[in-house]
Amino acid sequence: MKPLRLPALAALATAFVLAVPAAHAAETADIAAGRALVQQHACFTCHAIEGTKIGPSFTDLAAKFAAMGEGKAEKALDQDVHAGVKGTPMPANPSLSQAELDKIADWILSLKK
Ligand code: HEC
Repeated sequence: MKPLRLPALAALATAFVLAVPAAHAAETADIAAGRALVQQHACFTCHAIEGTKIGPSFTDLAAKFAAMGEGKAEKALDQDVHAGVKGTPMPANPSLSQAELDKIADWILSLKK
């Protein structure tokens, strides 16, 4: 078999990109925005992606919350990030909008292995 020429590869790549549904692209953008919000709001001071710091790792949180089921997981994350966890160093984040909380939850849940 002859190796594929460049134009053929480009056509294949284009077909692949066009085949990815728009919904998936929007979801990916939300996850990236969630990651940026976590950075901006200094969550990494206390949480690492892997390994416990002052708080549990985001990977562990993803597993814990994902176990609640899809609808519940996002709601519970929104609630905890908004209100904080009383009696622990986990602060409330009253300045985050509902849309921002959803993006943060999407990013955390995307870390589920
Ligand atoms: C000053 C340290 C600190 C900062 C900053 C912080 N957290 Fe936490 N967070 C903690 C600790 C400690 C816990 C564990 C609380 C517990 O014992 O239940 C926690 C728990 C959580 C939980 C799980 C709550 C539960 O019910 O199990 C989530 C989700 C979370 N943090 C997300 C975030 C996000 C998102 C941010 C940034 C907006 C953030 N945290 C900022 C310390 C922090």
